[in-house]
Amino acid sequence: MPLSQVINETLRVANIIGGVFRRANTDIHFKGYTIPKGCKIFASFRAVHLNNEHYENARTFDPWRWQSNNKLQNEVGANLFTPFGGGPRLCPGYELARVVISVFLHHLVLRFSWEAAEEDRLVFFPTTRTLKGYPINLRRRSESV
Ligand code: HEM
Repeated sequence: MPLSQVINETLRVANIIGGVFRRANTDIHFKGYTIPKGCKIFASFRAVHLNNEHYENARTFDPWRWQSNNKLQNEVGANLFTPFGGGPRLCPGYELARVVISVFLHHLVLRFSWEAAEEDRLVFFPTTRTLKGYPINLRRRSESV
């Protein structure tokens, strides 16, 4: 499986940034609601990324959902996948971030193996995390691998 699928799914389910704050600089009318000028709002990425209407079984970590080549383009285009924000304040470090994560995962998977040290599970409130911090027993693979 391409690492990019694992990275997309991690950013969808458990992004470190749950959303961004904004202030309305004019009255905004949206889906029957009015956000008055001056109001602070929180645009929640989590609410979109973990919505079953947008992602089937949204709380299931499933990197295979990104298998289709068009999936990422579609979701980004529809603002359904915004781990790095969007518009003029789009994260300028997003490509670097993806490269760094790829290099880290590449070496982690090739050089080490691990198993869960304890039973653990994902919780989704207030953020996505593992209940016990996912303790693992890490083992270095032999150099020949
Ligand atoms: C997984 C890693 C990262 C995530 C999830 C992330 C996410 C974000 C998000 C959501 C924003 C938009 C904030 C907003 O709209 O108010 C942002 C902005 C920003 N990010 Fe990142 N980021 C990541 C890594 C990086 C890296 C590696 C750098 C630089 C080396 C970086 C530099 C910045 C800067 C300077 C801004 C402010 C852009 C602006 O306000 O115009 N980020 N990031």
